[in-house]
Amino acid sequence: MSTVIKGGTIVTADLSYSADVLIEGGRIVQIGVGLTGDTVLDATGCYVMPGGIDPHTHLEMPFMGTYSSDDFESGTRGALAGGTTMVVDFALPAPGEGLLDALKKWDNKAGRACCDYSFHMAITWWGEQVFNEMQAVTERGINTFKHFMAYKGSLMVNDEELFASFRRCAELGAVPLVHAENGDIVASMSTRLLAEGNKGPEAHAYSRPSQVEGEATNRAIMIADMAGVPLYVVHTSCEESHEAIRRARMLGKRVWGEPLIQHLVLDESEYANPDWDHAARRVMSPPFRDKRHQDSLWAGLASGSLSCVATDHCAFTTEQKRFGIGDFTKIPNGTGGLEERMPMLWTTGVRTGRLTPNEFVGVTSTNIAKILNIYPQKGAVLVGADADLVVWDPEARKVITASAQQSAIDYNVFEGREVVGLPRFTLTRGVVAVTEGKVDTHEGHGRFVARQPRGAVGQALSTWKALTEPRPVPRAGIPASGV
Ligand code: URP
Ligand code: ZN
Ligand code: ZN
Repeated sequence: MSTVIKGGTIVTADLSYSADVLIEGGRIVQIGVGLTGDTVLDATGCYVMPGGIDPHTHLEMPFMGTYSSDDFESGTRGALAGGTTMVVDFALPAPGEGLLDALKKWDNKAGRACCDYSFHMAITWWGEQVFNEMQAVTERGINTFKHFMAYKGSLMVNDEELFASFRRCAELGAVPLVHAENGDIVASMSTRLLAEGNKGPEAHAYSRPSQVEGEATNRAIMIADMAGVPLYVVHTSCEESHEAIRRARMLGKRVWGEPLIQHLVLDESEYANPDWDHAARRVMSPPFRDKRHQDSLWAGLASGSLSCVATDHCAFTTEQKRFGIGDFTKIPNGTGGLEERMPMLWTTGVRTGRLTPNEFVGVTSTNIAKILNIYPQKGAVLVGADADLVVWDPEARKVITASAQQSAIDYNVFEGREVVGLPRFTLTRGVVAVTEGKVDTHEGHGRFVARQPRGAVGQALSTWKALTEPRPVPRAGIPASGV
């Protein structure tokens, strides 16, 4: 059975042109004019783009005494509804837990995914077991390791541990990721704020000024430089952090920054809302910031000093947020965004002229596929690539509301905002999952995407061979030979 996407304009990170796309066996088999297939999807007036890749999600994540409320089923259903066809989640070992044990847990949870997925492995403690298991993790197709420089007393690692882990990443051809905030200073400011009677959600933002992020980003860049390894900075939210990334890149270092759609669109005034629930629902780390920082992030995306737009999707219900009534440090940190990322970025980025459609494809899909070393299996419209595609209707519109969302939580941080630009169809490995807002997903359809280590100097190795050869189906816990 074949499917043809007809009459659209193909938009990649590099170019735009009119052509049909023929799909068979989950992959693109032909691109050309006048193609026919068993099923025809009408793309007239639409852009045919690589499906989005969200490199930063926390689905069913144990965090701050609870679990994030979207699991791999609802999370990936929301992803597909918004045009995202792959997510990369974080496997999170509890302190003292082995990496492979954590990986097994995430592998089980992800069995319910409706779209393809991969994992970053978090380094939440340090010791010989972690050092040894990092190699086994890379052999299972995971080439990224996440480090929290914040969350003192739970997930945070210190500089000695960072340096040791970064050096290990360098040996393994892996890329370290950092949540860059100075956790000691956040903890100290939080204690003082509480002692002074600042207990509400707005104090969360006071406890994490942009300097704590700028300082930690600078420090992580220097540590990565000394370890001889590239660096990926997650949820870059402020000018100080962006400035450090920009400078490092100008000096020839492979450092990538990842703004979130929430930081691009929502600002610190959300915390001044007198409704406790409203403000607490928007508590995340780093917090929302002012226009100066937002302008900096947009400029970074346009100029290329920032590389990818993610969500850090970590959704908690209002009931869960209320754990922090009377003490802002107990409000579970995190917001949703998986379903809204692409429509919101199109609306606020492309329609305003801040980004071109090609840049949109770069920052939502292709750039991260290259960083993760899965391009052109993912992030491409090319013969041989996976048919993870979105047929994008630039004129379709809707008003975002929690009552119509796929996410399991009871509110939406973008409630009431109108988006213009939505998927007409979303295809996951050739299977149509979304048709004009109607979602028809299949739990368990998603597959683990294995990722090769990068080269000695941190450059992605070519995966072109993978396009022309049969691909074994790996699971994270079970290495597949030849992948
Ligand atoms: O507030 C956030 N970002 N929650 C999720 C965990 C993290 O720090 O990425
Ligand atoms: Zn984080
Ligand atoms: Zn995160």
